[in-house]
Amino acid sequence: MKRLTELIADAVGDAFYQCSYSPEYGLVTLSNRPDLCQFQCNGALTAAKAYKKAPIIIADEITKVLKEHPEFKEVTSVMPGFINITMEDSFIVSYLNAMTGAYKYGCEEIGDNKTIIVDYGGPNVAKPLHVGHLRTAIIGESIKRIGRFIGYKMLGDVHLGDWGLQIGLIIAELKRRSPELIYFEEDYEGEFPMKAPFSIAELEEIYPAASSRAKINTDFMEEAKQATFLFQQGHRGYIALWEHILNASIEDLKKNYADLNVYFDLWKKESDAQPYIPKMIEDLKNKGFAYLSEGALVVDVKEDGDTKDMPPCILVKSDGATLYSTTDLATIIERMELYCPQEIVYIVDKRQELHFEQVFRCAKKAKLVSTKTKLTFLGFGTMNGKDGKPFKTRDGGVMRLEQLIKEARDKVCHRVTENKAIPEEEAKEISRKVGVAALKYSDLSNQISKDYMFDVDRFTSSEGNTGPYIIYTVVRIKSILNRFYSMNSGYGNDGVDGCIQLPCSGNERNLMLKLTQFNEVIINSFIDYSPHKICQFIYDLSNEVNRFYYENRIISEQNPSKQTSWIKLISLGRDILVTCLDLLGIEVPDRM
Ligand code: ARG
Repeated sequence: MKRLTELIADAVGDAFYQCSYSPEYGLVTLSNRPDLCQFQCNGALTAAKAYKKAPIIIADEITKVLKEHPEFKEVTSVMPGFINITMEDSFIVSYLNAMTGAYKYGCEEIGDNKTIIVDYGGPNVAKPLHVGHLRTAIIGESIKRIGRFIGYKMLGDVHLGDWGLQIGLIIAELKRRSPELIYFEEDYEGEFPMKAPFSIAELEEIYPAASSRAKINTDFMEEAKQATFLFQQGHRGYIALWEHILNASIEDLKKNYADLNVYFDLWKKESDAQPYIPKMIEDLKNKGFAYLSEGALVVDVKEDGDTKDMPPCILVKSDGATLYSTTDLATIIERMELYCPQEIVYIVDKRQELHFEQVFRCAKKAKLVSTKTKLTFLGFGTMNGKDGKPFKTRDGGVMRLEQLIKEARDKVCHRVTENKAIPEEEAKEISRKVGVAALKYSDLSNQISKDYMFDVDRFTSSEGNTGPYIIYTVVRIKSILNRFYSMNSGYGNDGVDGCIQLPCSGNERNLMLKLTQFNEVIINSFIDYSPHKICQFIYDLSNEVNRFYYENRIISEQNPSKQTSWIKLISLGRDILVTCLDLLGIEVPDRM
């Protein structure tokens, strides 16, 4: 379905045309003064320049034409040349009824099945997930879902960090602890054991231990680097250990991500890109892009008009080691070869911006991507604690993701079980969903690039602009509908016949108008990658639903056609809220 503003713009464009102006000036947006009008058109202001006329004269002419239009209830021109528009209720209501019957509530599928890879999550094997991994997981999952909803072929790739120093650290630590393991035997030629010489719990202890040891012990750091090097050269025993690390980690990661309602389509790893590196380097050298500078192989990525410092992209260090950039470039080649994406979106901490700028420039310069492929860096800000510094545990350590989820869940659990008899199992499941909703909503309601302050008490509250508040609203609608259907069993569960009718009050009209924005909000939130627009929308929508609910006695309404209309209206409200929450990756319990 066309967006409501587009339908109005069509008519306004016609009016411009009738008055001998180009119809493009008929662009219509939601009003930023809802107290004065529903929609506005500022086209007269831009047309004024092109036609060298006073904007108010043009606005007056357009207004005069639109006033004759049966679907326009009120049109006024306002100095210096705005056109304020309010539509007839019948126009809004017929749009709503069309939405009710339409696939995906009329949201346009603009994606055309184009492939977009979303690179998010980015955990490193063997290292536990911490809050730093939270934002990328939440944002990436949402962007993937929104894109998929509007018809893109979205591929979420976890891009596992399995190639770096962390592997060497673990190997070196294991070697110190159990030098007798056959993985360390130089000339061992047999099979390695199927079972890992550690459990995931041990692994989670081994990595931090190794990492702190390396900080104070330079010999140990050297051993770890050496182990990394040998592993990357294909040392059999180390590779076997790495496979064990990988298996244990992936299983654990999948569980953790599932708790967050985050699911990846691809479990690709940094190591998968390594085979592409030798040829890539050869090509870059042969084509003259890569050259030796102080022993390192680099590509210049400076461009005309750069205002900031743009160091060259380093491919191979003087000691022969490849880097993070080398892997990312090779991953681009791999992705082009395997999936031929239209776009790759990277959802990574904004402090990595320079790295991606270098990688993107190098990829474009060397034509690793086609000219049609877009590379997008979506850098997110830091999640801070109440002290304005990056979020930490009470004793100043890195907060583990599991711990954070638990904290949110416990806070909510308390409220769920308060003066209610809900069976323990159900209470647990409700708390998990609502706790995760609190975390996700608080994250997504901020602009991606901005830092934000995390405040568990505030975000788990069921009042204000929070996840629990929105869920609470859905649960409330569900319970009204359940009551209605249990009293009117003849209707069955898939809804009543009849349609939404003209609104009886200002609150009802506002609720209707809000619902009509769905299509527009979803498309816009994808076009500029801003899930916060969906959050704002469902917060406003929830407020409208609740105002409407307090004003009307839906269940006891005596006029059947009015009651049917209201039931239809709040059902649509529920559907739109649930759909939007799902696009944010938030699950809704049946009760709360
Ligand atoms: N593993 C990386 C880190 O922990 C994030 C990976 C982001 N994606 C990428 N293609 N570089 O910082």
